Amino acid sequence: MAIPSLKNDRLLRALAKQPVDRTPIWIMRQAGRYLPEYRAIRKQVPDFMNLCRNSDLATEVTLQPISRFPLDAAILFSDILTIPDAMGLGVYFEAGEGPKLRKPIVKSAISSLQLPNIADELSYVFNTIKKINVELNQSIPLLGFSGSPWTLACYMIEGGSSKNFSKIKQMMFDAPEALHELLAILADAVTDYLQQQIAAGVHAVQIFDTWGSILDPINYNKFSLRYIENIVNNLKKSNPETPIILFTKHANSLLKFIVNLNLDAISLDWTCDLATARELIAGKIALQGNLDPCVLHASKSSIVAEATKILQVFNGDNGHIFNLGHGIHPEVSPDKVAVLVDTVHKVSAEIISKKKGSF
Ligand code: CP3
Repeated sequence: MAIPSLKNDRLLRALAKQPVDRTPIWIMRQAGRYLPEYRAIRKQVPDFMNLCRNSDLATEVTLQPISRFPLDAAILFSDILTIPDAMGLGVYFEAGEGPKLRKPIVKSAISSLQLPNIADELSYVFNTIKKINVELNQSIPLLGFSGSPWTLACYMIEGGSSKNFSKIKQMMFDAPEALHELLAILADAVTDYLQQQIAAGVHAVQIFDTWGSILDPINYNKFSLRYIENIVNNLKKSNPETPIILFTKHANSLLKFIVNLNLDAISLDWTCDLATARELIAGKIALQGNLDPCVLHASKSSIVAEATKILQVFNGDNGHIFNLGHGIHPEVSPDKVAVLVDTVHKVSAEIISKKKGSF
């Protein structure tokens, strides 16, 4: 795999399972409410989707954590719900309540659903990517992302976050063809969206399948993994050089299916046993993760201890990207993040140089 020339290419090297001098780290939701400078911008723009749509402010927010910490990647500031929003479902956020949709999808509406015109409706995302790369000036890679079709469908049918996903599951059991029709449209939209993010300049993409694991294994394969597989195969045809990361919350028993996909990395949460995952993957796919986000509520010495444990499991082998197992919590102090980034860099550099010396 040809690696674009960047001043810091550790993340891309780790995705290609090539040696690095220290383990790269980025943090899910690294631009977010734990940063006072992010909260200041949110005060100016109370409507979250308007912040995503404003390329200048979205660029500024993307770069906030990069100015504070020596992170090894930036991630586009946006949201997975830009696609349902582009489809006219009216995404909005109410403080403390998570996302909501004004017009959730009902079964009878699916047959007349149109593929959104991604180039027009989401041009603000592609403008933001271009602006971020100008500011980054080839220093670190920029990640793009999308939700998986299943995870997007969860929000589109439930009308927001959900406790037990009864509406989408009811449709899955009573009207599977209608749900498949929706998922097929979403898979095409996600492929188009990620291809255009890559064309605009992202160096790698992450697919968030936050809700795949609420399914039983048979339905997981039918309703979530199959559509992710289509996206991955299409992207590998159109953009063979662009690495793809898949995040599945609580992947545990689903990992044995996920490893068959043509992925570059699998992002694991903290409930996955790393040693077992490493055995299953046998060096074929890089792994990302998997510190419990709650560790960042603990003392600095606990943060050092818990991060070190993860680095020791990898023992400096190729193909590890350090991350949290899910997004950082808004209550975390930025000082703790500084400790984590510093620990990952220092401890991994020691482990890697010791290993080299022992050959
Ligand atoms: O990681 C990053 O820093 C990039 C930006 C990013 C956001 N959302 C910004 C955001 C990314 C990659 C996402 C992905 C996303 N959005 C997912 C998949 C990952 C996951 O968390 O499982 C999901 C499910 C969503 C939908 C979504 N957007 C939810 C459930 C929420 C509410 C979260 C909460 O804690 O209230 C959002 C809003 C959101 N997206 C925020 C941020 C920084 C907070 C909104 C705010 O500023 O008030």
